[in-house]
Amino acid sequence: MDAKVQQEVDRLRKESSWLVRFSVDGERYGKNRNQEPADVRPASFFRHLPNARRILELGACQGGGTFQLAAHPGVHEVVAIEGRDYHVEKAQFVQKTLGVTNVQFLCENLETFDLTSLGRFDAVYCVGFLYHLPRPWELLRRLAAITDHIYINTHYVRLSEADLTIDGYAGMSYTEFGYADPLSGLSGWSFWPTLPALAQMLLDAGFVPEILEIDSVGPGQSPHGTTVLARRTTTIPEHELQDRVQKLHQVLERLPRNAGSPNEAAHPWWRRTLSRLKRSVRRIVPHHK
Ligand SMILES: C[S@@+](CC[C@H](N)C(=O)[O-])C[C@H]1O[C@@H](n2cnc3c(N)ncnc32)[C@H](O)[C@@H]1O
Repeated sequence: MDAKVQQEVDRLRKESSWLVRFSVDGERYGKNRNQEPADVRPASFFRHLPNARRILELGACQGGGTFQLAAHPGVHEVVAIEGRDYHVEKAQFVQKTLGVTNVQFLCENLETFDLTSLGRFDAVYCVGFLYHLPRPWELLRRLAAITDHIYINTHYVRLSEADLTIDGYAGMSYTEFGYADPLSGLSGWSFWPTLPALAQMLLDAGFVPEILEIDSVGPGQSPHGTTVLARRTTTIPEHELQDRVQKLHQVLERLPRNAGSPNEAAHPWWRRTLSRLKRSVRRIVPHHK
């Protein structure tokens, strides 16, 4: 056990829970929570985007996924954006301790941050994040200026439960739990689209989505969510474009009405209370805001 590492791990734990586990000389520190070693998403990302060298990660939390992406052969740089400073502080400590040099963590609110200041990326890794935004379509449009590929794993709302339409997109609103909740969005609510609405958002932003999964249940994935690979329309040869859009519509037309993540608001009150209690246990005392 490295006493200095342990001391810093303990100090940082007082500020908020550890959600990433890392090893130094065979000793394990921190805690695995949202980023399991068995997480299927990084490997799936590289299966679909084997040539990604410069990657932008959205909602990186404490860097569990970031370090997996950065360790992949051929990756030059991962820029990882996270909105909570208490996560970024831990991620940067782990980075320094492990001597990882091809990662840059930035503490920014992705609802407003100017992404163009970061230059272009081969691909964007957007997992466990999009469903925390009140206006996800706006982020997708901003991404079109900096990349040709987005890998998304996210919740979507069942067709049978959509009760709200904003800017032409059908979905529902979801309560977020504020800065002190380590896994929440930064606004008070988020918008969960239906899968056709998510696909439409991507088309409107200039991407053609390929729906890889409509019921993601693997380790690390958004339960009963979707995995989507979105390609900029301009990168797809003319003769393929129509085929791809047609395939997309075929998947959407066959989508069962009860596919997707269940609406928490439709759950019985005791289940909602239980889930709020669980979240409040995770809550920490904010130290910078
Ligand atoms: C559910 S966690 C998922 C973490 C990681 N991407 C994963 O899937 O394991 C969502 C993360 O996004 C961050 N986040 C939420 N809203 C954000 C925003 N507007 N800007 C930047 N980060 C945000 C949260 O702080 C949290 O770390």
